[in-house]
Amino acid sequence: YEFLKLSTPKEGVALVTLHRPKALNALCTPLFKELHTALASLDADRSIGAIVITGSERAFAAGADIKEMKDLTFSAAYSGDFIELWSAAVAQVKKPIITAVNGYALGGGCELAMMGDILYCSAGATFGQPEIKLGTIPGAGGSQRLTRAIGKSRAMEVILTGENFSGKQAGEWGLAAKVFETPEECVEGALGTAEKIARLSRVAVKAAKEVVNKSQDLGLREGVEFERRVFHGLFGSRDQKIGMGAFAKKEKPEWSHE
Ligand code: HXC
Repeated sequence: YEFLKLSTPKEGVALVTLHRPKALNALCTPLFKELHTALASLDADRSIGAIVITGSERAFAAGADIKEMKDLTFSAAYSGDFIELWSAAVAQVKKPIITAVNGYALGGGCELAMMGDILYCSAGATFGQPEIKLGTIPGAGGSQRLTRAIGKSRAMEVILTGENFSGKQAGEWGLAAKVFETPEECVEGALGTAEKIARLSRVAVKAAKEVVNKSQDLGLREGVEFERRVFHGLFGSRDQKIGMGAFAKKEKPEWSHE
């Protein structure tokens, strides 16, 4: 990969580090193509149970690549499904993704951070949707995901003014699940949580991610019904028998992941 670094720092955990330092990890199309390929292969890799995406201390990602976009026409954007790959790359991954955000997470960088399942950041991180200052609007889900995460009034304030907010605020507003003092602690914290998740039953984790995500799309009654169907379905899994059987025998479960 040219724009990514991949490693497996803990058992079952893949770390994907965005690496385009000269442009503060601006998300150009070649970078996103690589991310798509990397995430698809990690999703299919049976040795991996959870994925952490991070950037550098200075920037998670400073947005979509403005230089690449500036001369784009409507026709080319529409015909070429500009940005559609982003959702395909991240939102369709079935394994849990934790985004560990340090430095700038602006525009498309903030949107990428929010595409993960759990967002961790350092207190000094800088979030924002500054598109309005470029004469445009968020285009990779920011208006939808930020609004669901922090509520309409705050999301409107952020998106309409283009003003940034800190990692500390992200925690207070419920955008980030945890806020760490330093960038190192943030990445370590994300890897620790990913390791915990990777040790659990893969089939149960997959189902849990699927049902929580449904809550973003469905009404409460349909969502609860969907959850119950999947819950019923898990009585057909080996790991449900293993997990409940182990509890009854006061043993530790040895997951089959099936
Ligand atoms: C292309 C970018 C970039 C970006 C930074 N760079 N952000 N290139 N697209 N989004 C490049 C700079 O041009 C510069 O390259 C190098 O990275 C370092 O950036 P500086 O500006 O010199 O650093 P600094 O002064 O520290 O300022 C950091 C910054 C600033 C505040 C983050 O770079 C900035 O405002 N960036 C743009 C943030 C933004 O507007 N993001 C939203 C983009 S729109 P050179 O070659 O000059 O050294 C968007 C739309 C999403 O994301 C919707 C659909 C996906």
